[in-house]
Amino acid sequence: MEKRQELYRGKSKTVHATDDPDLLWLTFLNDATAFDGAKKAQLDRKGEVNCKINAFIMGKLEAAGVRTHFVRVLSDTEALVRKLTMLPVECVVRNVVAGSMSKRLGIPEGTVLPAPIFEFFYKSDALHDPLINDSHIEVLGWATRDEIARMKALTFRVNDVLKPLFAAAGITLVDYKLEFGNYRGELLLGDELSPDGCRLWDSTTQEKMDKDRFRRDLGNVIEMYIEVAKRLGVPL
Ligand code: ADP
Ligand code: TMP
Ligand code: ASP
Repeated sequence: MEKRQELYRGKSKTVHATDDPDLLWLTFLNDATAFDGAKKAQLDRKGEVNCKINAFIMGKLEAAGVRTHFVRVLSDTEALVRKLTMLPVECVVRNVVAGSMSKRLGIPEGTVLPAPIFEFFYKSDALHDPLINDSHIEVLGWATRDEIARMKALTFRVNDVLKPLFAAAGITLVDYKLEFGNYRGELLLGDELSPDGCRLWDSTTQEKMDKDRFRRDLGNVIEMYIEVAKRLGVPL
């Protein structure tokens, strides 16, 4: 597999073409950003740790029957994926109230929900990823009604697989964000699943083990990402 031209430089990954038009080369960077790029830092080893956690989780999802873009790792920080036509929405599932839902609705962080809540956000840094609903997506043409239904079903299905996986590692899966795209008529899970796009709390102490450590200046960001990897049994 040959790495060709850079197609996109994102906040935490670069995307390159390959000699196969159906495949992309993702590179996980040490760049950390929060608040839609307003806060930035370099965190040593973040690219490697996220690439490896992502590969492990994508493998678990595939094994559970969730179709993803993931093909294989290429190095410590690089992965080969199927080239998707991404839908410009972010799918969030919450098991415990935190972050923007806590602020928006005035519900204390840590409130355990009786059932998971699903939210859509429009993927736009300039607009700060506003909360949207099915009607916005369908009428504005960001996805079809059928794609909306499939994104929701797949995002909940991911919860069924990952909640017990993290629980067995002594970690509560508080919430997470997924992105989807189309590949030859099939809707696949894209992007990444790592502590950058999830909230992960130690099940006993409630200590944060995810990107909130960076957002909220709690320190030991990568040390905690490494602890997540260790508990899941991801070799680093
Ligand atoms: P951002 O764009 O939010 O800054 P990243 O730094 O993670 O995010 O950049 C990776 C970009 O690649 C994201 O915009 C994501 O939607 C896109 N992407 C992820 N997986 C795929 C894929 N399989 N095919 C095409 N694009 C993808
Ligand atoms: P929120 O509480 O800020 O809405 O985020 C919910 C979860 O989704 C949290 O784990 C962070 C993740 N997320 C991202 O990673 N990127 C995003 O752009 C958004 C909106 C959420
Ligand atoms: N879209 C946001 C960013 O990376 C998500 C976050 O705050 O983590 O800037």
